[in-house]
Amino acid sequence: MARTASGPGVAFTASRIADVETDLLMIPMFDGEELPAQFPGLDEATGGAVGRALASREMQGRPYELFITPFTADFKASRLALVGAGKGSEFNTERLRRVATAAALAARQRRVRRAAFLSRGDLEAASAVQAIAEGLLLSSFSGDRYKSGERNSPPIEELLVVSLETDPGHSLEAAVDRGRVLGESCNIARELCNEPSNILTPSVFADRAADIGRGVGLSVEILDEDEIARLRMGLLLGVARGSAEPPRVIVLRHEPAGAPAAPVLGLVGKGITFDTGGISIKPADGMERMKDDMAGGAAVICAMRAIALLKAPVKVIGVVPATENMPSGRAIKPGDVLTGAGGKTVEVINTDAEGRLILGDGLWYAKQLGATHLVDVATLTGACVVALGKVAAGLFGQPDAWVEVVRRTAQRAGDRCWPMPLYDEYAEQLRSEIADVMNSGGRGAGACTAAMFLKEFAGGLPWAHLDVAGTAWAEATQPLGFQHPVPLTAPPVAPE
Ligand code: BES
Ligand code: MN
Ligand code: ZN
Repeated sequence: MARTASGPGVAFTASRIADVETDLLMIPMFDGEELPAQFPGLDEATGGAVGRALASREMQGRPYELFITPFTADFKASRLALVGAGKGSEFNTERLRRVATAAALAARQRRVRRAAFLSRGDLEAASAVQAIAEGLLLSSFSGDRYKSGERNSPPIEELLVVSLETDPGHSLEAAVDRGRVLGESCNIARELCNEPSNILTPSVFADRAADIGRGVGLSVEILDEDEIARLRMGLLLGVARGSAEPPRVIVLRHEPAGAPAAPVLGLVGKGITFDTGGISIKPADGMERMKDDMAGGAAVICAMRAIALLKAPVKVIGVVPATENMPSGRAIKPGDVLTGAGGKTVEVINTDAEGRLILGDGLWYAKQLGATHLVDVATLTGACVVALGKVAAGLFGQPDAWVEVVRRTAQRAGDRCWPMPLYDEYAEQLRSEIADVMNSGGRGAGACTAAMFLKEFAGGLPWAHLDVAGTAWAEATQPLGFQHPVPLTAPPVAPE
């Protein structure tokens, strides 16, 4: 179970709980559950502590609640953690993934070296162990790489998913491996988002993407500013003009042998390594956050990593246009007209609406490379944060059937998004006197007009757009986003 660059290994074992060798054996308990008959000897092995905690309601099984006690005899594990899994009727893979992350974060905080999580409950066995493996892996993320002094507790070194069911066909073992790939890939995306913009410049971002892609057997192509100019990507070049850092286009391809010629999925991610707003400059307050304006690009790169490792049986192309958005004597100015690679002209009303510009060329290029279906991911608008908060990403696109495929896939992955409209009237807000389209539609429905702009560049293909401006950033190291705070620096508490 070798540690990889992206985190610890996760192994699978089918075993009686008494035989699990680990420092902390984590067992989920449902709301109001009594000592399960499933675990003979558990109470005795903890000197009666489990029975007492359940009887006194010290441990009630509410979500993320934790009760830790040593094993006094018989069991091979050193300590037991009962982990609240909430109501049995509300139990699903998303809850399980979060419970596993919360438990592993708590274990990590206690400097546990080896931790094991028992799969129980009535979910389908393979999806359950996959969710657990992914959840456990997510706990190994650290956001403090630039601290020279005291660091957070180190990640758990050995993770184990335990099932009481045997696994003759190794399908549970394979599911654990899938969960590991997803958790790792998510952590790599988080690390990229946390990187400051002086370190993660567009060319460094491209180098990192190339390393990630080559490491998993993707074909990698990085376009430099000359190649970008040759392709006439005037929208990307326009945004990049103000910066001393040259732009890049990152192209990752997954073309497995035997894959059908179509469909070809095109994933396009916004790769603004820092968004000052350009000449339409942003206020200073909170501007430091704009180092994460490449979150969509990181998501695409790491999705491509997972797609390669999971050997998806279809062709997928990832395209990430990458640049800074800076003010300078060379920067584009409001009123300027730019021409996209596909020939469409754009009147730049606001240089801070730069994401849609670079995505315009990115979507065009994905189609050019053979994509038949498009999905873009972008920290695109503050308006989307106003509409949905940090709770869900905005989902736009056409036709409805394709949008629904993306919505259901996201839901299964525990990645919440909510359908938003693309009414024809929004196009009127973007109508320009002098060019084909304006890059800003004014005050109303900002997330929708931004999506409407992108639609112009999707070339009529089935296309879905995820506005992740609200969901890309979490304020602390927490299981998943802000919903269930279990910070690494304080002991977890059960939500009231
Ligand atoms: N990167 C921002 C969007 C953003 C804002 C992400 C807040 C996360 C948090 C984007 O480039 C932007 O500046 N959008 C403008 C568009 C406007 C000028 C039409 C916005 O939302 O204000
Ligand atoms: Mn902007
Ligand atoms: Zn931006």
